[in-house]
Amino acid sequence: MSTKTVLQSLETRVENALAASGYPGVRANVHRSSHPEHGDYQADGLMAVAKANGIPPRQLAEAVLRRLDLGDEISHAEVAGPGFLNMIVSPDSLVRRIRAALRDPYLALPRVNDDAVERVVIDYSSPNLAKEMHVGHLRSTIIGDALTRILRFVGHTVIAQNHVGDWGTQFGMLSAHMSTCFRDERSDVLLRDLEVFYRNAKARFDTDARFAESARDYVVRLQQGDPVVRSIWKQFREISLSHCEEIYRELGVALTTEDVRGESAYNDDLPLIVSDLQKKGLAVASDGAQVVFLDGDDARKTGNHCTAYILQKRDGGYLYSTTDLAAIRYRVRELEANRVIYVVDARQSSHFTDLFSVARRAGYVTSDVQLDHVSFGVVLGENGRPLKTRNGGNVKLSDLISEATRRAYDVVASKNPGMKEHERNDIARTIGIGAVKYFDLARNRSTDYVFDWESMLSFDGNTGPYVQYAYSRTRSILRRAGAWDDTAPVRLSQRLERRLALNLVRFGDAVLAVARDSSPNHLCTYLYELAGSLMRFHEACPVLTSDEEVRDSRLTLCLLSAQTLQQGLNLLGIDVRERI
Ligand code: ARG
Repeated sequence: MSTKTVLQSLETRVENALAASGYPGVRANVHRSSHPEHGDYQADGLMAVAKANGIPPRQLAEAVLRRLDLGDEISHAEVAGPGFLNMIVSPDSLVRRIRAALRDPYLALPRVNDDAVERVVIDYSSPNLAKEMHVGHLRSTIIGDALTRILRFVGHTVIAQNHVGDWGTQFGMLSAHMSTCFRDERSDVLLRDLEVFYRNAKARFDTDARFAESARDYVVRLQQGDPVVRSIWKQFREISLSHCEEIYRELGVALTTEDVRGESAYNDDLPLIVSDLQKKGLAVASDGAQVVFLDGDDARKTGNHCTAYILQKRDGGYLYSTTDLAAIRYRVRELEANRVIYVVDARQSSHFTDLFSVARRAGYVTSDVQLDHVSFGVVLGENGRPLKTRNGGNVKLSDLISEATRRAYDVVASKNPGMKEHERNDIARTIGIGAVKYFDLARNRSTDYVFDWESMLSFDGNTGPYVQYAYSRTRSILRRAGAWDDTAPVRLSQRLERRLALNLVRFGDAVLAVARDSSPNHLCTYLYELAGSLMRFHEACPVLTSDEEVRDSRLTLCLLSAQTLQQGLNLLGIDVRERI
């Protein structure tokens, strides 16, 4: 079942009218009006068509208007300004859509048809296991998780891949250090603080020549599959992964052990990749290394980027880039992906441009497979530089989560002095973590942002707590209402009822916008606007004290509002509470 959203329906109607006026295949460009006097929706695609064809824009708009099939979707349409088409959505359509959404677990979102279902691999979080997860992993983890949830909701098959860094020279050093410390302590105790462990190993490596020698020997043995070294490495890897899983659990991120396929998984493929690319005439020797030269189109023209993709160093070692070729090949061949999304920070964008180009030339990725680098900016501190601890270290995610919860606790405690301690703690966790996630997801992902506790924990503005509060407040009304006739007619007689209804039926459009450009901020903006219209509705339209008919109609609006806020936040990986 797939009924069009309001936007899709209006767009089709205007496009049909354009075609009937002699302009087939033209995009209608319908968008929501920013001013009520411009109707609910406005088409501004007509202007460009008129200009291109040398006819007065208003004349074209009039012609389109005459041929516009209003159906039961549009109650009024008119030409406005220099040649816009303004449209008002009919109350019948709003009510019908509200009913449909209430009956549907997908809230009337038109999911993809069976023949359009994609197999999407999303590479996200992907921390380096040598160290503890820090703020540098925050954005990939939460943006990737939101995209996973949203693409699944829309109907695609999503395969999450946590491409953890679990291979390379660092792991030789760590295993060597671990093997000597083993005698004294159990490995889980030893690795309770990965940062300290890493620092100690590194310090030893830098100052103790004999240890450095043995670390290098460990790297070779690890690569050759020496069972003793492998088993130490495995233990390290497992403990480090369990730290990550703890973070995922606390953040409410859906990644599991099954989604982990780290760099080490591709180790055996690396020589094959190089020889395959040599056979294909792509890999050539350059200064003793094996590289693929990027041809003119692929190489970025400016700057002093190297224009070769390095596969194997002169000493025989392989690189991050080699592993990524093996991974992309696996994703297309074995996982049968139609689309691969990499949620990785913007600093790696040239790596991905090159990777995609080489992978396509090598035939690992055919033209029907879409590759996307979903990039994002840096989390900054108040000083405008990448967020660090006071002494310049990386901010660990575990510390960030504790601080979020602690700060949210203070906010919750001041709002609810009488609340029981365990309830406060529970709510603080939901608000604190929701605030951090929402603050990030609400921003345009491509820009950097300043991490600001005060704004993110505020109950005012486009924040997690604001949307969570709008949900709780609505739930509380529904709770107090007890049973009511939820089949009673919905009436939209007040302006604020109608505004709320218009926002409610936009849910599908907002979710589809995120799926279209992998930008969760569209959904945040939507939820913020929905919450805003809901709060204004609560101020102006009494529910429980109204006559039964009005009351039941308003309770129905409350119910769908609560469900939509809950579902919307859930798609962002954010929880709600019945009470705040
Ligand atoms: N481990 C890498 C890092 O921390 C990110 C990996 C992203 N995924 C990939 N397939 N390269 O920078």
